[in-house]
Amino acid sequence: MMGNMIERVVEAREAKEAIDIGRLVFGTSVQLLSNTIFSIDILHPNSNEMKELHLLNANIMLLVGKPNLGDYFPFLKPFDLQGIRREIKVSYDRLHELVDDMIDRHMKNRSLGLDHRHGDLLDVLLDFTEMEGAEGLTRMDVKLLIVDFFIAGTEPITTTVEWAMAELLQNPTIYSKTKQELEHKIPLGRTVQEQDLPRLPYLMAVIKETMRLHMTAPFLLPHRAEQDVEICGYTIPKNTRVLVNAWSISKDPLYWDAPTIFKPERFMNSDITDFRSKDLSFMPFGAGRRICAGMNLAVRMESLIFATLVQKFDWKLPNGIAMGEKFGITLKKAEPLIAMPV
Ligand code: HEM
Repeated sequence: MMGNMIERVVEAREAKEAIDIGRLVFGTSVQLLSNTIFSIDILHPNSNEMKELHLLNANIMLLVGKPNLGDYFPFLKPFDLQGIRREIKVSYDRLHELVDDMIDRHMKNRSLGLDHRHGDLLDVLLDFTEMEGAEGLTRMDVKLLIVDFFIAGTEPITTTVEWAMAELLQNPTIYSKTKQELEHKIPLGRTVQEQDLPRLPYLMAVIKETMRLHMTAPFLLPHRAEQDVEICGYTIPKNTRVLVNAWSISKDPLYWDAPTIFKPERFMNSDITDFRSKDLSFMPFGAGRRICAGMNLAVRMESLIFATLVQKFDWKLPNGIAMGEKFGITLKKAEPLIAMPV
């Protein structure tokens, strides 16, 4: 998978072309996820369909995050005045078609017997469709789970790597420290691999600092109070919709020294050893029972993609860099990062 990504960057380098980093990373994360789930690539990284999926996904994130009048005035809901539901449906329908197609292929193979199982996540989920009772899943459950994984997974991974690269390219000292760590820890000529990640503390600190400063899910997902609760003297009544402002917590000067500065060193020798600090000042994947279901996979995917881009290439910026943010249900880079491999 990383081989495909490297090949595409090499091609661009030879043609002296700049690359849209977000598009490159999106294609790679779709490939990684689709191999974990379906054992094959659902789409070729350079295909028009991959471009379409990238747009669809970004569109879904933007539309889901858009304030919807129907949420504030439920009697307006059926009218879909802003057309949000209509627009989102087009994107969802296309994603459902792709996943349906994969499920059909797996079912056909399974009907041929045990030897034709792929042993991937979809096979495991389809095993549950053959179970009776509470544990059993329907085909629709399986499809919705997978659609969720694609929507929940690919966009934040893409955005995180794009920000990490953007921060590196405008901080030459951090760039060379990251590169030097890779040069020292990985034998010459070998491409960085997943099992190398625990030996790259500085690179992991860059990823953590990126996720602190550029939280992709600034309000986590909406939660609901199951009962009346009192927090800091305020009563939150049962059934209240609760949005946790993790974005602001991760920049609170009470917890963070110079919070607006990109400083990976703050995570070196710190007691925040994973992606959720004990005091919850750092929780890019949420915390507690509703914590991101794909956290471990996501950390490995984004770190490996980022490490590969830094280890294998040097980059320059043909058009400079703009660091603005764009808000949907996720927080994206407003301007795509266009960089030239050299
Ligand atoms: C950098 C990448 C990712 C980030 C930053 C991220 C972040 C989050 C956050 C903040 C939540 C909500 C937690 C809460 O409200 O308390 C969440 C939920 C979720 N994420 Fe992720 N996520 C990422 C990647 C993934 C991947 C790769 C998958 C699956 C393949 C995934 C699957 C899910 C699912 C299924 C939920 C809903 C869990 C539930 O509500 O029970 N995520 N994620």
